[in-house]
Amino acid sequence: MDLLCTPHGVSTERCELVQASVGELLQLARGSAERAYAPYSKFHVGAAVLAQNDLGETDSFIGCNVENASYGATMCAERSAIFSAVSAGYRQIQILALSTTATADHPELSMRSPCGLCRQVISEFASEKTLIAIDGGTKNGKQNVDLATIDTLLPWRFQL
Ligand code: THU
Repeated sequence: MDLLCTPHGVSTERCELVQASVGELLQLARGSAERAYAPYSKFHVGAAVLAQNDLGETDSFIGCNVENASYGATMCAERSAIFSAVSAGYRQIQILALSTTATADHPELSMRSPCGLCRQVISEFASEKTLIAIDGGTKNGKQNVDLATIDTLLPWRFQL
């Protein structure tokens, strides 16, 4: 499916270059959102990360939000996917795709950009080249996506 990309701090040439990978990751993120455990907020989020290990190998990892009755113990989809990648030794995030499935009961719950905590965690494993792809849904046969850098999402961030 064709991708309609809205860039945020990313060149249009780069958007075209990464089209195929972003499209695949968005499908993974959408699938992952269907497995979200979100009985409290009903906000189903899925994430998919394309990451590289120290040997230069790349692989993809998925995550969804997992809520808890205590609320505070809830884990976001982005961090879930990133922690899975890092646990497997894949620490360099190339692309992180994010999708929210609005359920029939809650059609108003459409995609938003990552929360502040997730932005800080993305920053830990990102480079200036890392892309964050946010699902904007499918309209007129085209998949809409916002494509951002971590610098755009979290400027002047804390780093050691
Ligand atoms: N959530 C995510 O998974 N990612 C974000 O970036 C923001 C929020 C989840 C947490 C919670 O389960 C639900 O969305 C509502 O906040």
